[in-house]
Amino acid sequence: MALSYTDLARKSVLSQPVYEAGKPIEDVAREFGLDPANIIKLASNESPLGMSPLGLAAAKKSLDHGHLYPDAGTFALRQKLSQYWGLKPSQFVIGNGTNEVLVLLAQAFAGPGDEIVFGAQGFVVYKLAALMFGATPVPVPMPGYAHDLKAMRAAVTDKTRIIFLACPNNPTGTNDKPAELLEFARSLPEHVILCIDEAYTEYLDEAADFRPLIAEGRKVVVTRTFSKIYGLAGLRIGYLFGSEEVVGLLNRVRQPFNVNLPAQAAAIAALDDTKFIEESRRVNSEGLRQLYAGFEKLGLRYIPSYGNFVVVHTPGVAAKTFAELQKRGVIVRPLAPYAMPDSLRVTVGTAEQNERFLRELASVLGK
Ligand SMILES: Cc1ncc(COP(=O)(O)O)c(C=O)c1O
Repeated sequence: MALSYTDLARKSVLSQPVYEAGKPIEDVAREFGLDPANIIKLASNESPLGMSPLGLAAAKKSLDHGHLYPDAGTFALRQKLSQYWGLKPSQFVIGNGTNEVLVLLAQAFAGPGDEIVFGAQGFVVYKLAALMFGATPVPVPMPGYAHDLKAMRAAVTDKTRIIFLACPNNPTGTNDKPAELLEFARSLPEHVILCIDEAYTEYLDEAADFRPLIAEGRKVVVTRTFSKIYGLAGLRIGYLFGSEEVVGLLNRVRQPFNVNLPAQAAAIAALDDTKFIEESRRVNSEGLRQLYAGFEKLGLRYIPSYGNFVVVHTPGVAAKTFAELQKRGVIVRPLAPYAMPDSLRVTVGTAEQNERFLRELASVLGK
């Protein structure tokens, strides 16, 4: 055969990087001959407390109807979100994880010749989504690991279609001040859509409210996920809210039945699980303090975090430390793909998991 699939592929597919996920527990168990039960995964910012119990019960119950397609229009969840946010049900798009809605946004609004702006140490999917549709990614440097809103504003050109901005930001854990974010949103020209990614916002004490700007007609959309504080990462569900117009356009490119039955049921129930959310916030802030104290004891610098993860600097030995921790059954995330080759990102675990991580880290570093 003279022609390969590669010859036939769209050119942008050939340069499309592959998303590198946190290593699954089963892979590490197989690779190092470890018992999966003794491995802790602190690599993907998942909930250390498991699923929201209300969400889990609802997901299980929904399986009685697993032979039926899920609601393609996610009616009940959008109804619930409408009450939760005080917006219309027609202002929500539900996705197979936030990941899907981020990609839908790029698919609907950006193509060759267009630009997508984001922080250089922003969530990697922003860049992947741009490349996927032939748009140009425009990463803006983040001095001190935080968004430089002035530089991001200055990076906007006639070609800019979308700005992706997570607050708190992953992987750096830094956060933007609500008033500055709102001012930034107001400063943008009308051909630019600002996508505020609030994957970790439930961990904050204070967050910007973009609903008045949406009501004013500003081109702002907000995304949320059930993967983090609600503990539903394995079910894949997240959503976006914005104007009815933008939601209508995104629904045109969304596939039918993109969100499965247990995910829809779990999300509806989890929104009411205030007890679990409060407990998750408490465990997270205590866990952050525990990790900071551990790093300080080891003489390691770290970036104070607003999320459920923290970056620790291990200059010169990050790759080795990641590999050694893995051999000992602790999976963290190396940040070389984010141009932070001297740093590791660790998800806040339970007190017991944090302690084990700190103990293994000290041992790997010979401290
Ligand atoms: C900033 C940010 N946005 C979005 C996502 C994707 O979340 P989901 O699991 O809902 O696709 C993540 C996941 O890690 C994230 O860190």
